[in-house]
Amino acid sequence: MLVLRAMTQDELEARLPVLHEEYADDELRAGRDRPETVRSNVAALFRQLLPDGVATPGHLLFSGVDDGGAVVGWIWLALPGAKRPQAWVYEVQVDPPFRRRGFGRALVLAAEEELRSRGVSELGLNVFGHNVGARSLYESLGFSVKSITMAKDLA
Ligand SMILES: CC(C)(COP(=O)(O)OP(=O)(O)OC[C@H]1O[C@@H](n2cnc3c(N)ncnc32)[C@H](O)[C@@H]1OP(=O)(O)O)[C@@H](O)C(=O)NCCC(=O)NCCS
Repeated sequence: MLVLRAMTQDELEARLPVLHEEYADDELRAGRDRPETVRSNVAALFRQLLPDGVATPGHLLFSGVDDGGAVVGWIWLALPGAKRPQAWVYEVQVDPPFRRRGFGRALVLAAEEELRSRGVSELGLNVFGHNVGARSLYESLGFSVKSITMAKDLA
């Protein structure tokens, strides 16, 4: 139904603007940055995380390809390393026309299989509290909450 194939640098560059915008919106919605700085901070964060693009050591970027050969989304993983002892999902995205057809689930399950084959025993991720769809996806896949950030509006 879905296979992972290594993402090309061109594919990553085509996807980064969308990722930057969505992540900036999420940061603002979660109250973690200010409108005047969020976009430059997000761009800097991703440049720092992926200095060599798809060839950045310790990172795995895959496009998800369906039975008919169409690219339906992508997933970005980090292998365990100095930063954390488990592998990490930095991003998973299914392109809007393909959503709610099981591809998000298939992307994460295929990533788990890839990581298992590399001897990885744990996978973690962060998800914004307001991202109900992603939270529901991860919970249905067996992910459990390890920490929660809380905030209260004092206005
Ligand atoms: C989150 C995302 C990857 C899910 O992809 P998807 O292909 O639509 O997910 P699936 O079809 O595999 O859904 C699997 C399950 O996840 C849950 N789910 C997915 N989208 C949901 C939504 N919008 N609302 C509620 N539950 C949702 C459901 O439990 C669903 O099972 P069901 O369809 O049998 O009810 C996709 O919505 C997306 O790309 N969103 C934007 C990027 C994003 O937020 N990524 C996560 C970053 S942490």
